[in-house]
Amino acid sequence: MAFAGILTACLLLLPHVSSTATFTPLLPPAYPLAVRSPYLSAWLPGNAAENLPSSRSQFWYGNELNWSLIARVDDVAYNLFGVVDSLEDTKNATVTEGKYTSTHSIFTLTAGAATITLDFLSPVSPTNYLRQSLPFSYLTVTVKASGQSVQIYSDIDDSWTGQSTSSEWSYATNGSTAVYQISAKDTATYSQNTAGQALWGDAVYATRPGNSSGSKLTAASGPVAAVRAQFVGNGTLDDTHEAWTSGGVVGFAQELGTVSESAAVTFAIGHVRLQSINYLGAAQTGYYRATYPETVAAVSHFLDDYTDADSDASSLDELIQKAGEESYSAGGSNYSDILALSVRQVYGGMELTIPDDTLDTSSPRAFIKEISSDGNINTVDVIYATFPLLYALDATWIKLLLRPVLEYSVSDLYTEDYAVHDLGADYPNATGHLASGESMPVEESGNIVIMSHAYTKASGNDDLATTYADLLEKYATYLLVNGEYPAKQLSLNDGLGELANQTNLGIKAAVGLAAYGALTGQDNYTTAGQGFATTIYTDRVGTDASGSYFTIQYGIEPWFLVFNLYPDILLGLDVFPEAAYNATSAFYPTAREAAGLPLDGSLAWGQTNWQSYVAATVTGAAREMLIADLHAYISNGLNAVPFSDKYWVKNGTDYVAGEYDSFRARPTLGSHFALMALLGENQLS
Ligand SMILES: *[C@@H]1O[C@H](CO)[C@@H](O)[C@H](O)[C@H]1NC(C)=O
Ligand SMILES: *[C@@H]1O[C@H](CO)[C@@H](O)[C@H](O)[C@H]1NC(C)=O
Ligand SMILES: *[C@@H]1O[C@H](CO)[C@@H](O)[C@H](O)[C@H]1NC(C)=O
Ligand SMILES: *[C@@H]1O[C@H](CO)[C@@H](O)[C@H](O)[C@H]1NC(C)=O
Ligand SMILES: *[C@@H]1O[C@H](CO)[C@@H](O)[C@H](O)[C@H]1NC(C)=O
Ligand SMILES: *[C@@H]1O[C@H](CO)[C@@H](O)[C@H](O)[C@H]1NC(C)=O
Ligand SMILES: *[C@@H]1O[C@H](CO)[C@@H](O)[C@H](O)[C@H]1NC(C)=O
Ligand SMILES: *[C@@H]1O[C@H](CO)[C@@H](O)[C@H](O)[C@H]1NC(C)=O
Ligand SMILES: *[C@@H]1O[C@H](CO)[C@@H](O)[C@H](O)[C@H]1NC(C)=O
Ligand SMILES: *[C@@H]1O[C@H](CO)[C@@H](O)[C@H](O)[C@H]1NC(C)=O
Ligand SMILES: *[C@@H]1O[C@H](CO)[C@@H](O)[C@H](O)[C@H]1NC(C)=O
Repeated sequence: MAFAGILTACLLLLPHVSSTATFTPLLPPAYPLAVRSPYLSAWLPGNAAENLPSSRSQFWYGNELNWSLIARVDDVAYNLFGVVDSLEDTKNATVTEGKYTSTHSIFTLTAGAATITLDFLSPVSPTNYLRQSLPFSYLTVTVKASGQSVQIYSDIDDSWTGQSTSSEWSYATNGSTAVYQISAKDTATYSQNTAGQALWGDAVYATRPGNSSGSKLTAASGPVAAVRAQFVGNGTLDDTHEAWTSGGVVGFAQELGTVSESAAVTFAIGHVRLQSINYLGAAQTGYYRATYPETVAAVSHFLDDYTDADSDASSLDELIQKAGEESYSAGGSNYSDILALSVRQVYGGMELTIPDDTLDTSSPRAFIKEISSDGNINTVDVIYATFPLLYALDATWIKLLLRPVLEYSVSDLYTEDYAVHDLGADYPNATGHLASGESMPVEESGNIVIMSHAYTKASGNDDLATTYADLLEKYATYLLVNGEYPAKQLSLNDGLGELANQTNLGIKAAVGLAAYGALTGQDNYTTAGQGFATTIYTDRVGTDASGSYFTIQYGIEPWFLVFNLYPDILLGLDVFPEAAYNATSAFYPTAREAAGLPLDGSLAWGQTNWQSYVAATVTGAAREMLIADLHAYISNGLNAVPFSDKYWVKNGTDYVAGEYDSFRARPTLGSHFALMALLGENQLS
C-alpha cells in the first residue's frame, strides 16, 4: 500500500438540481457499470445519474469512456446515456429512478410514451470459474410501451482501448451475434496508459437481435455524427464498416418493432487480453479460454449465458442483502447497503487465470491489482484487506490469490526469511518483488500465516498447509523471534513511516502465532501468541496505563485503531482477553471525530477497511457508530468517484469531513464484510 496516492480529492459540488428522480437504497459516490477486471472498470459518478442521457461513463481513474445509448420511440429520438453532443432533433429522456444491488446498477428513464430501463449487470460468480473469468459485462435495455414503434442504438469508441491516436477495429458475426473489436495500434504487450488502461488487447462490443417478434439488428462503424444521424433519421444502420478514424464509433441499431408490452435487448461490453498477466516471464490467460479460446466464441457464449448469469446474480444479491441484515440487525439495511456497493469493486480488482500455453485448468491462479494506490500486483496486505469477503463467499479464492505468492516465495527468486510484500511493482507484470520495493516483514509474515489458516479452516483442505509447510514454519519462527517487540519497520499503513514497536504489529504477530498453532495443531505456538498478548495488553506494554486503549507504539501515544485483532475473533483463536475487547468497545466512541474514527488519535483521516475490521471486534455503541458512519460516508453526496476507502473524518483547510482523501476503486473493500464473515465461511456453497 502506498501513501502517496496519485489521486487527490476534488470536491464536486454541483449546483443543486431539484430532482424528480429517486435513488435507492441511496445515491452512491459512483455506480459500477461494467466492473469485471482492473481493465474493464466503467463507472458513472453518482452526481451524473440525474443527467444520465448526457453523462459519460468513466474508467476508474476518472477519464471518460464513450459509451452511448439512444432510443427512437415513434420516430422521435431520445438520448438515454452518454450522449455529450446531442444531435439536432433529439431529446433527452428523463431519469426517474436509479438503483443498485450487489451485481446490478439499474436506471429507469421516460422517453415519450415508453419507459426504458438500463440494467448494467456485472456478474460476480466466485464458484463458477468460467463465468467469473469472462471479461465482459451486460447492458440490458428493456422497453415498456403500449403500441409504439421502438428502435435502440448503442455505440462505443477507441476511448476503451487506452489510446485514441491510433487504433483499429474489426467486425465479425457468429450466427445472430455481431461483434466489434477495437484495439490500440503499435503498443507494447502488458503496457498501460497513464490512467491505468491496458494498451494491449481488445475492447469488445457485441449484441444479438432483441426478443420481440419484429427484432432486427443492423450495424455500422464510421464518424460518430454520421453513424448516429443514420440511426436518428432512419432507425437502422446500413451495415457498412469503415476503417478506424479518430472520432469514429462502432454502433448497433436494434429494431424492436411495435412494442405492445415489453421488449428487451442485451449488449455485452468487455476488454480481452489473451496474454493477460506476465507471471514470472510466462503468460497467464483468462480461465475461460480453456473452453472458449477465441474472443468471438467467448462473447457469444457470454450472451448465451445471460439468463443463468442473471439468475445467479439475483441469488447473490439476495444472499448479501440477507447476510448484511442478519449479521448487523441493529442497522436495518444500512450494512447491506454498504456491502452491496462493495461487491463488484472487490471482484472487479481481481482476475482468474491459467497458463496461456497449455490452457491447463488444474492449478488456476488469481491476481489482484492495488488499483489507484500504486498498481502493485498481489500485494499481500491488499489480499489481507480483501479476505473477509473471500472467506465469507468462497474461501478457495484465498488460495487462488496466495498461490502465486507462495510459489514465488519458495523459489530461488526470493530469499528473505520473512514474507514478501508484493509480486511486482506494476500489474500485470508479476515478475517478482523489486529489491527497492516495500518490505513489511512482521505484517506480511503474519498475513501469510493467518490467511493460510483461514483458507485451511474454511475449506477443510490442507493442500496449502502441506505443500508450504516449511515456508509457513519459517514465517511462524520469524514472528516468534521478531514479533513481540517489532524492530523499526513499515506496517501496511505505510504512510505512518517506519516505526519501532508498533502495537498493531505485535498484535499481528500474536494472532499469527496462534493461527499457526491452530493450523498445525501445535499448542505451544498458540501459547506463545497468548504470551505476546499478555505482554501487550495485560502488562500494558502496548496500552495506556489503565488499559483503556492501545497505543500506536509501545509506551508512545496516541491511541491506535488495532484492526489486527480481527482474525482472533473470526478464527476463534482466543489470543487476547475479553477485557481488551471490552476496553476498545468502550473507548472508540469517545475518540470519534465529525465523520468517523481516524486510524489513530493524531490523524484527520480514517480508512473504511480497518474501521470495518474493528466493527467486527467491538460490540454495542462502538459497532453501531462504525456502521452508521460508513453508511453516512457513502451517502453524504460529497464524493463522485468509485468507492474510496480513505476519507477525512474532520474538517481541515483543504477538505471537509466526509470527503474522500485518496484511493479509489480498490479491491480492499472485501474488508467491509468482516462482520458478515462472522456468520460463517463459504456462504455461497
Ligand atoms: C441534454 O442535457 C444536457 C445537460 O443538461 C444538455 O447540455 C443537452 O443540450 C441536452 N440535450 C438535448 C437534446 O436537450
Ligand atoms: C468521446 O466523445 C467525445 C464527444 O463525441 C469526443 O469529443 C471525444 O474525443 C471522445 N473521446 C475519446 C477518448 O475518444
Ligand atoms: C510490463 O513490462 C513490459 C515489458 O516486459 C513493459 O513494456 C510494460 O510497460 C510493463 N507494464 C507496466 C504497467 O509497467
Ligand atoms: C436513410 O436511409 C436511406 C435509404 O437507405 C438513405 O438514403 C438515407 O441516407 C438514410 N438517412 C440517413 C440520415 O442516414
Ligand atoms: C423480453 O425480455 C423482457 C425482459 O426480460 C421481458 O420483460 C419480455 O417479456 C420479453 N419479451 C418477449 C416478447 O419475450
Ligand atoms: C459461436 O458461438 C458459440 C457459442 O455461442 C461457440 O460455441 C462457437 O464456437 C462460436 N463460433 C465461432 C465461429 O466463433
Ligand atoms: C521496544 O520496546 C521495548 C519495551 O518497551 C524497549 O525495551 C525497546 O527499546 C523498544 N525498541 C525500540 C527499537 O525502540
Ligand atoms: C513447539 O513444539 C515443537 C515440537 O516440540 C517445537 O519444534 C517448536 O519449536 C515449538 N515452538 C514453540 C513456539 O515453542
Ligand atoms: C466484558 O463485557 C461483558 C458485557 O458487558 C461482561 O459480561 C464481561 O464480564 C466483561 N468482561 C470483562 C473481562 O470485563
Ligand atoms: C443508517 O445510517 C444513517 C447514516 O447514513 C444513520 O443516520 C442512521 O441512523 C442509520 N440507521 C440505523 C438504524 O442505524
Ligand atoms: C465542516 O465544514 C463544512 C463546510 O464548511 C461545514 O458545513 C461543517 O459544518 C463543518 N463540520 C464541522 C464538524 O465543523
